[in-house]
Amino acid sequence: MKHRHLLGLKDYPADDIKSIIDTAFSFKEVLERPIKKVPSLNGKTIVNLFFENSTRTRISFELAQKRLSADTVNFSASTSSLKKGETFKDTAQNLEAMKIDAVVMRHPTPGAPLHLTKHIDSIVINAGDGTHEHPTQAILDMTSLYEKFGYLKGLKIAIIGDISHSRVALSNIYGLKTMGAEVTLCGPSTLIPPFIEDLGVKVNYNIDEVIDWADALNVLRIQRERMHGGFLPSIREYRNLFGITTERLSQHKKELVIMHPGPINRGVEIDSAVADSDQAIILNQVLNGVASRMAILYLLLGGKLGEGND
Ligand code: CP
Repeated sequence: MKHRHLLGLKDYPADDIKSIIDTAFSFKEVLERPIKKVPSLNGKTIVNLFFENSTRTRISFELAQKRLSADTVNFSASTSSLKKGETFKDTAQNLEAMKIDAVVMRHPTPGAPLHLTKHIDSIVINAGDGTHEHPTQAILDMTSLYEKFGYLKGLKIAIIGDISHSRVALSNIYGLKTMGAEVTLCGPSTLIPPFIEDLGVKVNYNIDEVIDWADALNVLRIQRERMHGGFLPSIREYRNLFGITTERLSQHKKELVIMHPGPINRGVEIDSAVADSDQAIILNQVLNGVASRMAILYLLLGGKLGEGND
């Protein structure tokens, strides 16, 4: 692995993404065994530092750590001494003083994991930093696509919804473009950043044209908690224009893979019947999340590092 930390997929090497995906498939076999545990990270200590809510990412990282036999500690900001005024820097340095090996961090502020690397020597993995990046989600999404199609180069992936506020979208764009996939973004013009095409993606505001074009749709959550700027006239209008509904899909006679990073707003960006259909791989994404995070932890903490790690 070229980089010591996993902070984002911008400029992340294709070879390293491929190594993670290949290793994830090996670990997925471990997850199918009656005893789902290997000793790969025996003796390593990992702290999960979550400053923002999470179900999938936090539990999936914790399970991945346990499956690899690492010692894990969960830190919750709301019950820590941060509430007594301790600074982020002091918190980080006190954790490091307890001889840990890695920190998995989710934080509402873009760049917080990079900031953490300035204060501690442990390996840092970004579990989502505000509207910036969510690299492990993009890696599990690519693992799921690779498993379904057998390749990423030339695959046509549409990312639908609130691109502006989505760390999942940005990490997927970086990762998929690095791996040679074609990416089209679709959503309301108020939720697609200007100049996003500079990242090598296309933008198409017509959802039906996008469905005709795509091999897979990655449907994003409408993030009501980040939606204070009047970006949408109404949820009903969003659903009418961009919702992945049973009725809309039935008008397109084609096989299409449906993905969603979760949590889902059923009946808003996607119909329940679509999310629960055979063409949806949403729960397989969740399982691949454990395998992909096992691969990331194994390669960063147990694997051999290359020259010039930063
Ligand atoms: N996909 C994802 O990041 O979900 P959580 O917010 O539940 O971790």
